[in-house]
Amino acid sequence: MSAAAASRPIGVFDSGVGGLTVVRALMERLPLENIVYFGDTARVPYGVKSVATIEHFTAQITEFLLQRDVKMLIIACNTMAAVAAEVVHRLAAGIPVLDVIEAGARAAVAASPGRRIGVIGTPTTINSNAYARRMHELNPTVRVYSQACPLFVPLVEEGWLEHEVTRLTAQEYLRPVLAEEVDSLVLGCTHYPLLKPLLRDVAGPRVRLIDSALTTAEFAAERLQQAGLARSGGAADYRFVVSDVPLRFQTIGERFLGRSLGAVEKVDW
Ligand code: DGL
Repeated sequence: MSAAAASRPIGVFDSGVGGLTVVRALMERLPLENIVYFGDTARVPYGVKSVATIEHFTAQITEFLLQRDVKMLIIACNTMAAVAAEVVHRLAAGIPVLDVIEAGARAAVAASPGRRIGVIGTPTTINSNAYARRMHELNPTVRVYSQACPLFVPLVEEGWLEHEVTRLTAQEYLRPVLAEEVDSLVLGCTHYPLLKPLLRDVAGPRVRLIDSALTTAEFAAERLQQAGLARSGGAADYRFVVSDVPLRFQTIGERFLGRSLGAVEKVDW
């Protein structure tokens, strides 16, 4: 594969700012890769929307990124990965497509010797049963216990990462899953990696937290090597594109990314 092909950016997309947790993990794991990120900030949240609507939005974003000549597509949003991954695969026409559910499911199955796995996510992700389905394909003997946690997204966007209200909410949501004595817990939403310290406390030391942002970056590194598409030199270029620039966007975005965002482009749809 030519250096020019490897220099094309990785396209990463999400319903809003949350997918920046995946970009952050990619920047750390693959510091030479160029990245173009699309966040649908005008239409977030997706986690409570219907499948038909999410499919429609997902197709639009995929086409936008394909026009940017991406070499790989990463569905950073668990909700889109849960209900619209096929739309992306169909449109991508041969370009590798990765998603957070595939990466998280593989990591969870590999990391759960007791084969009891908890999954938390938005209502649409949990209702789709996509994590449990994929994990059962990988290992039919695993037991999967799922819980929708709709209040976590607004709490994280409010910045209440260590707040007492968030702790009580987490205790309430996790109670039924922890009662099943799971040995790992998949953080099946872009926002949840920011709650890791608090969730670690609530879940206790016996439960391994599976951060799908980190596992996706690992998976992307593997696939780029296999496809001969890894970029080998030069400073990386990062582009951030959104469909709206909402109030406090910069502050919230930088919290997810863990560094300054720089210039942000807004699409005109
Ligand atoms: N990005 C979404 C996810 O990972 C969370 C935010 C939303 O509901 O759109 O499921």
